Amino acid sequence: MEVADRLKSIPPYVFAEIGKKARAIAQTGVDVINLGIGAPDQPTPRHIVDAMHEAIEKPANHQYPPFGGTPQYKEACANWANKRFGIQIDPETEVTSLIGAKEGLHNLLFAYVGPGDIALIPDPAYPVYKTSTELAGGTPHYMPLLPENNFLPDLDAIPDSVAQKAKIMLINYPNNPTAGIADLAFFEKVVAFCKKHDILLCHDNAYSEMTYDDYKAPSIFEVKGAKDIAIELHTMSKTYNMAGWRLGFAIGNKTAIANLAKIKSNIDTDAFAAIQVAGIAGLTGPRDHIDFCNKLYEERRDIAVKRFAELGWTVEPVKATFYMWVPTPKGMSSVDFSNHMLNTAGIVVPPGDAYGPGGEGYFRISLCVDKDRLAEAFDRMAKHSITYDMQTAKV
Ligand code: MLT
Repeated sequence: MEVADRLKSIPPYVFAEIGKKARAIAQTGVDVINLGIGAPDQPTPRHIVDAMHEAIEKPANHQYPPFGGTPQYKEACANWANKRFGIQIDPETEVTSLIGAKEGLHNLLFAYVGPGDIALIPDPAYPVYKTSTELAGGTPHYMPLLPENNFLPDLDAIPDSVAQKAKIMLINYPNNPTAGIADLAFFEKVVAFCKKHDILLCHDNAYSEMTYDDYKAPSIFEVKGAKDIAIELHTMSKTYNMAGWRLGFAIGNKTAIANLAKIKSNIDTDAFAAIQVAGIAGLTGPRDHIDFCNKLYEERRDIAVKRFAELGWTVEPVKATFYMWVPTPKGMSSVDFSNHMLNTAGIVVPPGDAYGPGGEGYFRISLCVDKDRLAEAFDRMAKHSITYDMQTAKV
C-alpha cells in the first residue's frame, strides 16, 4: 500500500527516531543518559494531581468537553495571562484550549497556510514549524537565527516579494533550541512588520515561565496593538510538569482564535474535561513549584557550563529554557556528533540539523536529568575524549 506523497516528504520526528536508536543501544546493556527531549523530570505538582483525582470521579467530566475548552478553563487561562503579563484577554472570544502547543501549531498552520503560501519560520526551530507548513502544502521561508544577532531574526533581510506572499510568521522566545531571549523592542518590530504585510503572527511562548537570574519573559501582547494580528500559544507541559497530560491554550486575535477552534473542532474533540480541571488548579494555584524547578534547572545549567568549559567549550549560561545550544567539534556534522555521543558514551543529544539547516554544526542538550546524572554524562564525555577540539578524523 502506498502512502500519500505528503507523508513521504517529511522526515520522522526527531525524538521518535532518536528514541528508537537509544532503545536499541539500551537493549545491548548500555545505561543511556537522555539529554534529548525537553521533558521535565520533576513530578506534576500535588495540588494539580489532587484536582485531577477529584475531577475524574465526576461523571460529567467523562462526557465530550465543550469545543474550544470549558468556560472555567478559558477563564483561568485569561486570568492567568492577566496576572502574569498584565494583559486583557476575553475568555469567551480570545482563548481556545489546546491539546498541547504542538497540536496548536499544526492546526494553526493548517488553518492559515495552503499551497503556494509562505510561512516565515525561524531557522533553527522546533521541527513542527517546518513539517506542518509543508504538510499544509506551503513553503517555509527561513529566518536565520544567528548567535551574532542573539538568535533573533533579521526582519530587514526578508525580501518584500516573500513578505507579500507570507500568511504567517512563527516566533518563539524564550527560544527552542537556541535558548535565545527577546525583549519588547524586538516584539514591537515584529508586530509592526506583520501589520505592514498583513501576516498572522504566532508567538510560541512555551517557555515563558522557565527563566533564570531575574529574567522575566514577556508576552507578545505587552506590545500595544499586537492583538490586531497575533496569537500566542502556551502549554502546561513545561510550566506545570504536565508534558504527558497534553494541555495548552492559545490566546489573542479573535478571528485567529475562531479559525483555530474551527479547524480543531473538525479534527479533535478537545482535552479531557478532567485534565482541564487539573489545568485550572495549575493556573490558579501556587507558583512555588515553578521557582523550585527553575532553581534546579539553573543549578544544572551552571554545572553544564562549567563542565563544558573543562572539555574546551565556551558556553554562555542561558537565561531561559532548559536547553543549551552547543557547537559541535570542528569539522564534525551534527548527526555524526549525535551518533558518536550515543554510540561511544551512551548519551542522547539531538543533532542541530533536526531543527533546520541553520542547526548544522550544533547539538542541543536538555537539562532534564538530575545533577548526578548530568555530571555522569560529562564524566563519560571526558573518559571518551569527547571535547570541543577532539580529533574528528578518528571518529
Ligand atoms: C523538545 O524537546 O524540543 C520538545 O519540547 C519536545 C516535543 O514537544 O517534542
